[in-house]
Amino acid sequence: MKLLVTGGAGFIGSHFINYWIKNHPDDNIVNLDNLTYAGSLVNLQQVIDSPNYEFVKGDISDMPLVEKIMNGVGIVVHFAAETHVDRSIMDPWPFIQSNLVGTYTLLEVAKKHKIQRFHHISTDEVFGTLELDKDHKFNEETKYNPRSPYSATKAGSDHLVRAYFYTYNLPITISNCSNNFGPAMYPEKLIPLAITNALEDKKIPIHGDGKNERDWLFVEDHISAIELILEKGKIGETYLVGGLKSGMSNLDTVKKILSLMGKDEDLIQMVADRPGNDRRYDIDWSKIRKELGWEPKHNFEDGLKITIDWYRENEEWWRKIKSGEFKDYYAKQFGNDGL
Ligand code: NAD
Ligand code: TYD
Repeated sequence: MKLLVTGGAGFIGSHFINYWIKNHPDDNIVNLDNLTYAGSLVNLQQVIDSPNYEFVKGDISDMPLVEKIMNGVGIVVHFAAETHVDRSIMDPWPFIQSNLVGTYTLLEVAKKHKIQRFHHISTDEVFGTLELDKDHKFNEETKYNPRSPYSATKAGSDHLVRAYFYTYNLPITISNCSNNFGPAMYPEKLIPLAITNALEDKKIPIHGDGKNERDWLFVEDHISAIELILEKGKIGETYLVGGLKSGMSNLDTVKKILSLMGKDEDLIQMVADRPGNDRRYDIDWSKIRKELGWEPKHNFEDGLKITIDWYRENEEWWRKIKSGEFKDYYAKQFGNDGL
């Protein structure tokens, strides 16, 4: 089987490709990625020489290019997106272009090529926010209520994918997962930012009162969920993939990281809140457990230890990022807080 993976040079996409090439040696993968600031081919070093892996540098909204490379493809696994909420607040346009126009382009070409499966990777952020101190969770029936330009464009892309199923019978599946963490995540997101700032003995910014909660999912567990959906998922269905740890505030998450790293809590600096910062995410993942037999294999602490070790051992990777374009982004984002 030939797979077209979009956004395979990013954090989750590269984990998927490295896993798939190793565990499905009879399949071929074409990775389409335009290498935005978030994409890096270094993440794919272990597969770069594999005869069943090919990289194409290009944009998912480039219809002629997508037409060309969709030839012979059986399965599309669509990761490519602009993904950082804070950047979407600074400038929503790239999110509209990649997440909406890009997804439309892939769907349109997939429809023409009669592919066997279009799997769309999405986020729990499309459901909006939950209140603190309540025990309700997101599930597959939760109404969409996105509140940032990022989540609004991801919600729009989910709707488009479903529309192609109902209108054109495109064989789709969708997964909406919670916040991933793990090796090789771009250090603009909370966990890798906290780890790398701590390694540099720099202050770690915490938005608002730090009480917001995320439902953390170790990236390898996310990959195993996607594999099950591709192998056993029902066409037209959506699966929510939830995390290892719910009910943990951002502040407690960063304190946990600092304690595992043997660093002082003085490194924490409270900063202005993100506009519209969703208060709490929590996923009820009983559908994928019951129907496909998925369960996360790592607990939160083990996942964090693996992640911290990776950033310790791969300083060159993140130092190169942090000395490039990231510096301007960081100054724009946290300059007013003196960071
Ligand atoms: P990432 O930002 O690390 O990587 C995104 C990749 O997509 C990059 O390699 C980038 O170059 C590529 N890309 C972006 N726009 C493109 C375009 N127009 N054409 C071609 N390539 C393009 O993202 P990630 O964290 O790996 O997330 C992957 C997917 O998972 C996204 O769809 C995201 O919405 C979803 N998701 C992520 C998380 C998370 O915690 N990281 C949680 C839920 C859902
Ligand atoms: P983030 O990792 O950006 O993921 P998302 O916004 O997609 O959930 O942010 C997770 C939470 O951490 C969110 O409530 C915002 C907060 N946060 C901080 O407190 N400090 C930071 O430096 C960042 C990047 C995020």
